[in-house]
Amino acid sequence: MMKVLLAGAGGQLGWELQQCPPDNVELVACTSADLDIRDEAAVLALAAELSPQLIINAAAYTAVDKAESEPERAFAVNADGAAHLALAARQVGARMIQLSTDYVFDGSHSSPYSSSEKCSPLGVYGTSKYQGEQRVRAILPRQSVILRTAWVYSTHGNNFVKSMLRLMAQRDELGVVADQLGSPTSARTLAQAVWGFTAQPQLQGLFHWTDAGVASWYDFAVAIMEEALVLGLLPAPVVVKPIRTCDYPTAARRPAYSVLEKSTTWEQLAVPPLHWRVALREMLAALPRG
Ligand SMILES: NC(=O)c1ccc[n+]([C@@H]2O[C@H](COP(=O)([O-])OP(=O)(O)OC[C@H]3O[C@@H](n4cnc5c(N)ncnc54)[C@H](OP(=O)(O)O)[C@@H]3O)[C@@H](O)[C@H]2O)c1
Repeated sequence: MMKVLLAGAGGQLGWELQQCPPDNVELVACTSADLDIRDEAAVLALAAELSPQLIINAAAYTAVDKAESEPERAFAVNADGAAHLALAARQVGARMIQLSTDYVFDGSHSSPYSSSEKCSPLGVYGTSKYQGEQRVRAILPRQSVILRTAWVYSTHGNNFVKSMLRLMAQRDELGVVADQLGSPTSARTLAQAVWGFTAQPQLQGLFHWTDAGVASWYDFAVAIMEEALVLGLLPAPVVVKPIRTCDYPTAARRPAYSVLEKSTTWEQLAVPPLHWRVALREMLAALPRG
């Protein structure tokens, strides 16, 4: 059996990881209440007690806009917290999987970002996650996987899909940003990819994983509406209007294009990629009714 310590078990990915662990995994899942990764002593003590072979860091400060006004918190979790887990992994000789984000890129490209591309985050969240990546790699140069993903949603937790369903049930019309492109990603398929790394201990370094295909937030919203109507999750269609980023001001700047190049990861992991629209349909079908 492989003992795995999971931090951030209460989040979207953390929850999905608990739904599908491989048979050979003994999972110790810690929510933020069980383990605050900002607390270095607590992290080191728990790792020493459990002696895991793998540490997965699904914990993060993910409030992209709020991070602009509380950068200390974002860095404490996303950079320091990640480093504490890496130190703990080094202490017990464990491998570590650190989740990261497409927001490490500035979005100036018009073709998918490979993992070797220069990072240039636009906001506090992306910068704190990038610093987390660098610190984990410096502490665990040969025993870490940095897995960047994007636009994550799940039946569990708060996300764009659930916000859209809520707003679409309340309004007749909705404006959604059409000039930011990325790849919507189901936390369920992401969890399968994370577990895919456990079968391949030789893999280390930087990897990209998202569901297949590209969409704007507008495309994503239209698809959510269409699929939700088919499934009876919405009583009637609403008008979804494409708007520009400049018409929807937010505290944090976001990349205009953050599609990740992930064909190498798809080839290396024995986990088939799903198109985002298929994954979305599966997520909506799994939503509790009423
Ligand atoms: N969500 C996205 O669209 C997205 C996109 C790209 C990359 N990612 C990355 O993917 C990973 C998983 O994201 P997610 O969507 O699952 O995030 P999430 O749903 O926001 O979950 C994050 C979890 O981290 C926990 N956490 C926060 N501070 C903590 C701390 N100090 N100690 C321990 N746990 C703490 C939170 O617990 P509390 O709720 O109790 O604070 C929450 O359960 C993260 O690395 C994220 O940066 C996410």
